[in-house]
Amino acid sequence: MKAGYSDVLIGLQFGDEGKAKVIDIIGKNYDIIARFNGGSNAGHTIATSQGKIALHQIPAGIFYPKTLLYIGSGCVINFEKLVTEIESVDNFGIKLGGRLFISSQASVIQPHHLLIDEIIGKAIGTTKNGIGPAYADKALRSTEKGIVNIRFGDLADNEEFFLKQIKKNLKDTVAEYNLKNIDVPLAMENFKKAYIKIKPYIQKDSLFLTRLVESGKKVLFEGAQSFMLDVTKGAVPYVTSSNTAAGAAYVGGDLSPHFHRKTIGVGKAIMSRVGNGPFVSEFGGEKSEAYCIEGGGNKYGKEAEQKLSVEELLQSDDLFEIGRALRMLGDEYGASTGRPRRVGMLDLVQLRYAVRSNGVDLLWLNKCDLLSDFSRTKLKGIPFVSQYIEEEKSIDYVPSSNVRQRRIKREIEYEKNFPEKIRKLRNFKDLPKNLLHLLARVESDTGCELLGIGVGSKRDEYILKK
Ligand code: IMP
Repeated sequence: MKAGYSDVLIGLQFGDEGKAKVIDIIGKNYDIIARFNGGSNAGHTIATSQGKIALHQIPAGIFYPKTLLYIGSGCVINFEKLVTEIESVDNFGIKLGGRLFISSQASVIQPHHLLIDEIIGKAIGTTKNGIGPAYADKALRSTEKGIVNIRFGDLADNEEFFLKQIKKNLKDTVAEYNLKNIDVPLAMENFKKAYIKIKPYIQKDSLFLTRLVESGKKVLFEGAQSFMLDVTKGAVPYVTSSNTAAGAAYVGGDLSPHFHRKTIGVGKAIMSRVGNGPFVSEFGGEKSEAYCIEGGGNKYGKEAEQKLSVEELLQSDDLFEIGRALRMLGDEYGASTGRPRRVGMLDLVQLRYAVRSNGVDLLWLNKCDLLSDFSRTKLKGIPFVSQYIEEEKSIDYVPSSNVRQRRIKREIEYEKNFPEKIRKLRNFKDLPKNLLHLLARVESDTGCELLGIGVGSKRDEYILKK
């Protein structure tokens, strides 16, 4: 019997590149879509004619009824949020029974992880989903107070013992941080209720994916949080707490690299970043960083910004103001928090680095429609970063230290503007020639062929190159 194969899709920038959109497009070519890292910190929104579906833990690909969905052992699971998500998907008439499988080796996000992230996550600007504390406990495994890393399967195998331990971990945290107004019995009741609902989705067979692929099935691994936020490779500490690089699929995804075929990398033409940390191509640099972080309290969130005039901002001489306009035009606000995302120009040094680090075979560039908005500015064209200069020398990689990233001088080049609206176009050859020129530059600089581009936020607003 001929074995199947696996492809890996990851984000190449700082997250929110529109990975789910690409999976929604190419997902029909696969039998299984599988997650290998992260948890409910991921936020995918798929715009459909019936409204938007927000996915956090469930792999994208939900629209293909025969596609199986798998959450691998490298993920951390928030039961309560997963119940909400399953119910909201159910409201779209999509049933997950018999389709969704969660590895028994995936770690559980316990109530105390959420409390700790709320307290210590501010410095990094985390999503407060308890991700860091859950992965920290995974590495810690156990302390003098008992077991702190509790996996889905451990809990299922000995509920009484582990529910007691989860309660103890919660009580210990409440005491350690001297937290008031935490209703421990209520928190445990909610946790238990959600766990019972998620229990049927457990997959105890560690060779589940292996067996499927051996029998000819094809898997697409769906990365969360993107390469620049990798816990090892990114600008520590301003990263997430899992490995987001393509290779991590073959640890957290429960399949061997023997079956790997291709790596697909997703970027977007106007970049964004949420949370703290260096961002070389940011419009408005440190001013934008400070503004967006303060805006996390929603002072400058979506509602406040929508009152501004896009046209006036675009006409500004200040890149910070142009960035604000692009944030509004690209709807770059946190899907659940409304936090303004920091926006930046396409960074070809960073993109090339991410492509080479992950062995990306095919590239996808979303949000290309937004590039036409530069024709409404006074800039001499579409700006992009083409070189990094560090201490007067050109470097061809992104240093993972904050200090070094922050001292990089970026060199900006401009591609000719195009004023045409491209959302309705569906053929690559019909694209404005200036955009085709820029895309050819992206391919030659990264050494990677384009699979397709996004030309709008809707599901069908994309163009495949071939
Ligand atoms: P955490 O993953 O919640 O611990 O947050 C760590 C950093 O990763 C913060 O800067 C978050 O804003 C960022 N982050 C986490 N998940 C995502 C995502 O899905 N998209 C973009 N940024 C993310």
